[in-house]
Amino acid sequence: MSHDRKFFDTMSLLLGLLVVFIFVIFFVARAIIADKQNAFLMEDPTYQEELAKRIAPVARVAIAGQSDGTVAGESKPEPAAATRSGEDIYNSSCVTCHGVGIAGAPKVGDHDAWAPRIDQGLPTLYDHAINGYQGNTGMMPPKGGAMNLSDDDVKAAVDYMARLYR
Ligand code: HEC
Repeated sequence: MSHDRKFFDTMSLLLGLLVVFIFVIFFVARAIIADKQNAFLMEDPTYQEELAKRIAPVARVAIAGQSDGTVAGESKPEPAAATRSGEDIYNSSCVTCHGVGIAGAPKVGDHDAWAPRIDQGLPTLYDHAINGYQGNTGMMPPKGGAMNLSDDDVKAAVDYMARLYR
């Protein structure tokens, strides 16, 4: 009888410990996962975007006479270039065709291709670059297709290309 009793006590104790153990594991696991889950969520670009949208101000104000036409928090539109160098303009708008010389475009630095063109004089080159030009080798679109460029931008790019010829 006392033998059964002892067995029963030991079993109860073991069961009790097991239950406690299960709870501990359960909560530890949850703690670990919660941490990871939050970190994962915070790094998610879609979530960050959504969050930024939700906490963005409802409205923004531009005050006449005090602001330059942009709304606080928004970046100013690029100044109508002229300040950009001929090299910059060439690299953003002309290099596609003139860099490698596709579709009959005279390649920069190709002396033979440029010599007769340079001989026409810069004003003609400016005119052809700004207004477009159908020559013997292909079609130079007006401003190289970059209609946002000012005439001065195009001239600067032509100057840059003409310099590379030498
Ligand atoms: C879509 C391709 C293309 C782009 C982009 C382009 N060009 Fe051209 N360009 C040509 C072609 C083709 C010719 C040659 C036309 C011919 O002589 O038959 C040419 C010729 C020229 C000439 C020589 C004109 C002449 O009288 O011989 C100049 C100067 C010139 N381009 C400047 C520019 C400038 C500056 C840009 C950038 C703002 C530019 N091009 C962008 C295709 C392009």
